[in-house]
Amino acid sequence: MTSVDYDTLIPNNVDLASDRRLQRALEAWQPKFIRWWKALGPQAFQDREVYLRTAVSVSQEGWANFGYVKMPEYRWGIFLADPVPDRKVSFGDHAGDPAWQEVPGEYRADLRRLVVVQGDTEPASVEQQRALCMTAPSLYDLRNLFQVNVEEARHLWAMVYLLHRYFGRDGRDEADELLLRHSGDEDNPRILGAFNEETPDWLSFFFFTYFTDRDGKFQLASLKESAFDPLARTCEFMLKEEAHHMFVGASGISRVIQRTVELMKAHDTEEIAPYGGIEVATLQRYLNFHYSVSLDLFGAETSTNAANYFAAGLKGRFHEAERNDDHHLKEDLYEVPQLDGDQVTSQQVPALSALNEALRDDYIADCSKGVERWNRILAEVGLQLVLPHVGFNRKVGAFAGQPVTPDGRVVDRAEWERSLRESWLPTDSDKAHVLSLMSPIYDPRRIAGWIAPPATGIHAKPVEYEYVLV
Ligand SMILES: [Fe+2]
Ligand SMILES: [Fe+2]
Repeated sequence: MTSVDYDTLIPNNVDLASDRRLQRALEAWQPKFIRWWKALGPQAFQDREVYLRTAVSVSQEGWANFGYVKMPEYRWGIFLADPVPDRKVSFGDHAGDPAWQEVPGEYRADLRRLVVVQGDTEPASVEQQRALCMTAPSLYDLRNLFQVNVEEARHLWAMVYLLHRYFGRDGRDEADELLLRHSGDEDNPRILGAFNEETPDWLSFFFFTYFTDRDGKFQLASLKESAFDPLARTCEFMLKEEAHHMFVGASGISRVIQRTVELMKAHDTEEIAPYGGIEVATLQRYLNFHYSVSLDLFGAETSTNAANYFAAGLKGRFHEAERNDDHHLKEDLYEVPQLDGDQVTSQQVPALSALNEALRDDYIADCSKGVERWNRILAEVGLQLVLPHVGFNRKVGAFAGQPVTPDGRVVDRAEWERSLRESWLPTDSDKAHVLSLMSPIYDPRRIAGWIAPPATGIHAKPVEYEYVLV
């Protein structure tokens, strides 16, 4: 095996060079990672120069270095946010204790599980998006896709570092498993449902980065509160990159909508598919799908696991440290929605058991902000997009499999199934139309006709910059 010069090949701020055992473990894992990247990362362009951002330190200047790089040579680094001196646990039974620098034996299995579940999502999305490079609407978009992909792979490195450094042999085995499960694999799928769905086209990609990467934001934000300090610091740094992924989604959908509005005005009709646009009804159906599968990622409305993770200090709430309450939640109640016969109602439950729902509520509020911005563009043509009811198209929790409409009514199951197919989720003809628009544009001066150009380029470069040397 060739030895790796970690300080040059793998930028890091965890002093890798001083830990021989850890180095050896990562040296054994690194070639497996590269094999995985080449086999299941982007289907093409692996030997092309891409204008990418690489983190080489956590400082203001260091975390966003731009330059051309071939993706297999990307410097996947390992970074923890700067430590907070004398950081204390901010919630749960250990509130006020010093944050943990090692894993307490009693929480080892639970912490490992949290790291593995988070880690599993990172390579999954790379696998889901691997064919999209064949149909990018512009070089700008192609570059953004690759940026998201290499950063998700860096997030995999972040979790693998924790597994190798803090979880011994089991951790090393789990790190290997992260490369063996594959998105959509019948025998060995990824752990969470949304990460086994296909991302067959760029409209799906933009909605995925808007809704599903945003779930990532909320999971990372609650793990960033963890009493286990290395996990907290890792997640804090990952959140910086995550913001770009959600930007790709939010701005991508804005640009699609902008083009849709232009075409509607030019042709004075909502039916713009014949003119190569994507109709608002189609956008709504794609939104319904990606939003509802992302809601499932938060888990059941009530959960003893979530309560235990919180009490133990493993996973906090969104913005835990800034909240003005007792951070124990032992006496508090929280309202969760439920299905009561053919009515959607709600009930008060102990707040500790409702932490999944509380995080989902925070997520929903965040999602709706982007939808409001999209609707400002759509206001020009008197249309709007809406987030469907939380009970719609769910596979997890109280609403799993229940015939709830996008506006929150419980209806006859046969009628619901028909509407699901014909009106509420992307129809076969939506998918066929969207796919028909997916022809690649690799000329830096051009862009596909179904999406507006971006307002600005990347890193102060012009929109027409050759972001990928094809
Ligand atoms: Fe990620
Ligand atoms: Fe992401």
